[in-house]
Amino acid sequence: MEEFISDLTPGAEKPAIEMIGVNKWFGAYHALRDIDLTVEQGERIVICGPSGSGKSTLIRCINRLEAHQTGRIFVEGTELTADLRRIDEVRREVGMVFQHFNLFPHLTILENCTLAPIHVRKMEQAEAQALALHYLGKVQIPEQADKYPGQLSGGQQQRVAIARALCMNPKIMLFDEPTSSLDPEMVKEVLETIIALAKEGMTMLCVTHEMGFARQVADRVIFMDAGAIVEINRPEAFFANPRHERTRLFLGQILK
Ligand SMILES: Nc1ncnc2c1ncn2[C@@H]1O[C@H](COP(=O)(O)OP(=O)(O)O)[C@@H](O)[C@H]1O
Ligand SMILES: [Mg+2]
Repeated sequence: MEEFISDLTPGAEKPAIEMIGVNKWFGAYHALRDIDLTVEQGERIVICGPSGSGKSTLIRCINRLEAHQTGRIFVEGTELTADLRRIDEVRREVGMVFQHFNLFPHLTILENCTLAPIHVRKMEQAEAQALALHYLGKVQIPEQADKYPGQLSGGQQQRVAIARALCMNPKIMLFDEPTSSLDPEMVKEVLETIIALAKEGMTMLCVTHEMGFARQVADRVIFMDAGAIVEINRPEAFFANPRHERTRLFLGQILK
């Protein structure tokens, strides 16, 4: 009993995410191999690795866009299983931003941002609009609220996608190569938006090859290869002193 009570004392925070011995196959293809990863509250993790190494699959398992087959995944203390109620619970806590912004082209920016709060959270329209404008302000594009996605640049659309995710008030944000499909001149504005979020203490996992960003914001950097976490370390050590040959090769290629 004593121990049970001490678990609930402040400071004894549960991890944001726990993955224990997670494996995933697509048919015969072994896409995730024995993934063990604990992400603490407020921690910022950058994931890098060659194409096809399982980076997207790993973060998609965290909000059950993909189902793992063995091992266990806990998000904010809730275990992800086939139980749909739990999947909903987890998705409530997790926002996701993709490489392609996935905005609805026939809805305005404001409508894109209020859609889920109104229909999923049952929020009043006026309240949802105020919330959306607040977050569009945060990502520095409040003046675009009445436009359609096609009228915005890629960088602006990606910032809308970030605002849209924030409107659901997530505890964790997952980014899957959020700047990979942007023209180079727009990468910075999107990274700065993510950096601002990181500074506010949002727990985040970001798949990216922007190593300057990793150095600046990551608490830990993960290198994946062939479905496994090969190396995980603080950025200073990760870049100065990669322990594995595969990490060295990869860094050599992308830092050229
Ligand atoms: N839905 C799927 N069905 C079959 N194979 C898939 C599927 N999604 C991903 N894969 C395979 O799993 C591997 C890891 O993919 P992914 O996680 O997207 O890699 P990354 O994001 O690191 O490029 C790749 O070989 C990919 O082809
Ligand atoms: Mg990917």
